[in-house]
Amino acid sequence: MTPNRKFATRLIGAFCLTLGISLAASAEPALESNNCVPPIENIRGDAQRGQDLHLENCADCHGYDGRAEVIVMHMDEPPHDQTDVEYMTALNDAFLYLAICSGGEAIGRSLVMPFWGDVLSDQDIRDLVAWVRTFSGT
Ligand code: HEC
Repeated sequence: MTPNRKFATRLIGAFCLTLGISLAASAEPALESNNCVPPIENIRGDAQRGQDLHLENCADCHGYDGRAEVIVMHMDEPPHDQTDVEYMTALNDAFLYLAICSGGEAIGRSLVMPFWGDVLSDQDIRDLVAWVRTFSGT
């Protein structure tokens, strides 16, 4: 190999290394990792935005209106009716946040309720809490 060729090979090698490193760095998840610790206050976000997220991710199990009347999959523990004022009043926003972020098992409920902390942002979950609250007006 001529010295020129050797230099070129090294240059290409260095370039690939740099590219590899920057690709690896940009492969970081776009989502800030959510540790699922419920915010202390003002948990409720934008209910309107929450509605869209709910239709997309939650309505299959909970119904678009939270009544869970249409259960499309077999569930031993079907979701509660989230329009039930007494039931929803007993649950605080931090509990709802945790249920959504960490899933049913984390709150001592059915593991059929998935955890969303790896796909939904903190803001998404706050928006969902706000929307879920509209079902019962609590
Ligand atoms: C695969 C079905 C399924 C999906 C999808 C689902 N859930 Fe659930 N969810 C459940 C079940 C079942 C429970 C009840 C667990 C129990 O009470 O044992 C539950 C419980 C909850 C609770 C706890 C309060 C309550 O109603 O008892 C909240 C809040 C909740 N879900 C919100 C959501 C949101 C928001 C989404 C979408 C991001 C979602 N769920 C998606 C099945 C589901």
